[in-house]
Amino acid sequence: MTRRIVVLLSGRGSNFQSLLNASLTGELSGSIDLVISNRPQAGGLAIANNANIDTALIDHQAYATRDAFDADLAGVIDSVTPDLIVLAGFMRILTQSFVSQFAGRLLNIHPSLLPLYPGLNTHQRALDNGDTHAGATVHYVTGELDGGPSVIQAKVPIESGDTKDRLADRILQVEHQIYPQAVNWHLSGRLALRNGVLYKDSVPLPATGELWRAPQ
Ligand code: GRF
Repeated sequence: MTRRIVVLLSGRGSNFQSLLNASLTGELSGSIDLVISNRPQAGGLAIANNANIDTALIDHQAYATRDAFDADLAGVIDSVTPDLIVLAGFMRILTQSFVSQFAGRLLNIHPSLLPLYPGLNTHQRALDNGDTHAGATVHYVTGELDGGPSVIQAKVPIESGDTKDRLADRILQVEHQIYPQAVNWHLSGRLALRNGVLYKDSVPLPATGELWRAPQ
């Protein structure tokens, strides 16, 4: 049976595009059935429309509370009973009750080497600290911001003269490689979470997830 994916986004949607590309070339172990945005002008909505993928707009500004927004969001997601919900630049903090409802089915991508730099402005923070490497991490979502078990992490060397935008561009390239990979591992049943430890193919992963290596 085809596995169903719902994508949540707020912006340009380049990570969604990378999943869509994988799906168009037959390299995604599921189908993207619905794209939901909380912002009407999100570029990702236009990408979905052009690809004839169903979309939903749930504008958070129309809601008085986070709980009310998350309740409607959960209802729309449930209507397609997805195997996986992919957060792809979804700029909303989710309530504990939402996260609990979809526990083990929610993936996020974050542009840092978690546990370093949860939250915003990750690239500048890595530069300001004089780090030698930055990167991106795909992780399951828990109630802790950017804090759930890591699936895969890609390291990107920081180069002299890097600006946050240059660094972000290079990290985005690897985001587009690791997210489809993590999605496929989840959908093909290769990941399992037991007692807070994430296993891949029954082998425990390091706390930072599998280290991604660029294809040779
Ligand atoms: C990415 O940098 C991702 O790591 C972060 O939000 C950004 C989304 O970019 N969570 P895009 O909309 O997928 O291009």
